[in-house]
Amino acid sequence: MTRFGIEFTFTRLENEKSIQDSINPHTKMIWVETPSNPLLNITDLELVSSVAQENEILTVADNTFSSTYFVKPLDFGINLVVHSTTKYLNGHSDVIGGATVTSTPPPN
Ligand SMILES: Cc1ncc(COP(=O)(O)O)c(C=O)c1O
Repeated sequence: MTRFGIEFTFTRLENEKSIQDSINPHTKMIWVETPSNPLLNITDLELVSSVAQENEILTVADNTFSSTYFVKPLDFGINLVVHSTTKYLNGHSDVIGGATVTSTPPPN
């Protein structure tokens, strides 16, 4: 990402303090993968989204592992949801695809 001029930080979003501590004045987006691959860490999407909203930060959740069958991140206030449709949504591992879903209007 640094080749594209994008700064990033890896962090464990375990509680409100760890989320707040990972935010700096340049932070524009929080990207969450939950459950994470391969450790299956679970992130509190509602907490992430509320801290992000307070700081006017966009949130993205990679929902590939749970799929829409188990979790709908938009219901927890996440702005953008991404899926590798290559995996469970396809079901057979014989298709390559992806999807991004949102209910957030584009910025002006
Ligand atoms: C959670 C998650 N999201 C995205 C991807 C990327 O999927 P693809 O290989 O279809 O680009 C993976 C791949 O393992 C994944 O585990």
